[in-house]
Amino acid sequence: MLRVLIIGAGFMGQTHASIYNSMDEVELVSIVDKDKEKGEKFAKEYNCLYSEDLLDNFNSETIDFVDICLPTFLHEEYIIKASEHVRYIICEKPITLSINSLENIFQVLEKNNTKLYLGQVLRFWEEYVNAKNIYETGRLGKLRYIEADRLSEPPSWSSWYKKASKSGGGLFDLHLHDIDFLVYLFGKPVTVYANGIKDENDAWNFVNTSMTFNGNVIASIHGIISMSENYPFTMKLCMVGDDASYEYEMKAGKNLENRESAVRRASVYSKNGIEEIVTYGVDAYKSELKHFVECINENRDSEIVSLKSIKNTMQVMEAIKESLEMGRIVTLGAGI
Ligand SMILES: NC(=O)c1ccc[n+]([C@@H]2O[C@H](COP(=O)([O-])OP(=O)(O)OC[C@H]3O[C@@H](n4cnc5c(N)ncnc54)[C@H](O)[C@@H]3O)[C@@H](O)[C@H]2O)c1
Repeated sequence: MLRVLIIGAGFMGQTHASIYNSMDEVELVSIVDKDKEKGEKFAKEYNCLYSEDLLDNFNSETIDFVDICLPTFLHEEYIIKASEHVRYIICEKPITLSINSLENIFQVLEKNNTKLYLGQVLRFWEEYVNAKNIYETGRLGKLRYIEADRLSEPPSWSSWYKKASKSGGGLFDLHLHDIDFLVYLFGKPVTVYANGIKDENDAWNFVNTSMTFNGNVIASIHGIISMSENYPFTMKLCMVGDDASYEYEMKAGKNLENRESAVRRASVYSKNGIEEIVTYGVDAYKSELKHFVECINENRDSEIVSLKSIKNTMQVMEAIKESLEMGRIVTLGAGI
C-alpha cells in the first residue's frame, strides 16, 4: 500500500483525492493546505489527516509520495521542499513558468535522487491516445496539417489564476496542454510564430500559435481562456494526412464541469468513408494517476511523461512567449 500526502485542497486536490480513494493500492493519509477551513473540510470528506505545514507530516507519518496540487507559482518551492523528504513526487501541470525555474527543479531532483511525475493529462486522454496510435500506425498517410483548439471561460474558483505571474495566464494554464501534446508526438517544432491579446494582468489569454515541424508538417493551435459566459469548455484536435484525417471534438460544461456527460466525438475520414472511433469514457485523470502509481510501485521513471519531454515542452513555451512579446518568428532549429 502506497501512502500519499496531497498539498492543496482545491479543485485538482479534490479530483486527485477522489481517484486515490477509489484505488486499492493507495492510501490518502494527509492533506496540507494553508487555508485551515478548506483543509479540515477536505480531511473530513476524504477521511485523512490535515496539517497547515508540510513539514509536520514527515516526522510522524510514513509518506511514500507527495502529490502537489498548488497554484502554479508555488510548484518549484514545494517540489524542492518535498524532495528533501520523499523519493516520489506527482505534480500538476504546468510544472513551472520558466526554463530557469525548470532547470533549478531538475538539479534538485537529481541531487536528492527524487523521481517526478507531471500531470500532463492529454497524454492520457483517450481520444488523444487514439490520435497518437492512429498517426503512428500510418493510417493517416503523410501528415500535412494539425489544428488543436482549447477554449474556456476563465477559471472561476480561485483569484490567483488571473495573475500571469502566478498562473502564466491562458498561455501556460490552457494553451500549454495542446503544445505539450504536439511536442510529445512530434518533438520540438522548427519554427514558432504566435500572436495574441494580453490583458491588464500581463496574461496572454487569447493565443494563436503556428508551428512548423520537421517534414513540413504545419500546426495551428488556438488557446482562449477568456471565452464569454456560458461558452462550453471546448477541445478539438484535427490531424490531416494524405490518406485520412482524424478529428476529435469535445464540448463540456463551464470549466470542464460535467465532463462525464460531455459531447465527445472522434472520427477518421478517408476514401473508405467515415469511421466513428469507439471510446470507453475512461477518465484521463484516473489513467494518469494509475500510471504514475504503477511507476512508483516499480521504482521507475514515466516513459509517457519523461523529464526530457517536459523540458522540450518548456523550451517551446518559451519560444511562443518570445514570439508573442516580440512579434516575430522564433526558430528552434531543425531536428531538435
Ligand atoms: N490537469 C488539469 O487539467 C488541471 C486543471 C485545473 C488546474 N490544474 C493545475 O492544478 C494546480 C492547482 O489548481 P487548482 O485549480 O486546484 O487550484 P485551487 O486554487 O483550486 O487550489 C489550490 C489550493 O492550494 C492552497 N494553497 C495556496 N497556497 C498554499 C500554500 N502556500 N501552502 C499550502 N496550501 C496552499 C489553497 O488554499 C487552495 O486550497 C495548478 O497548477 C493548475 O494549473 C490542472
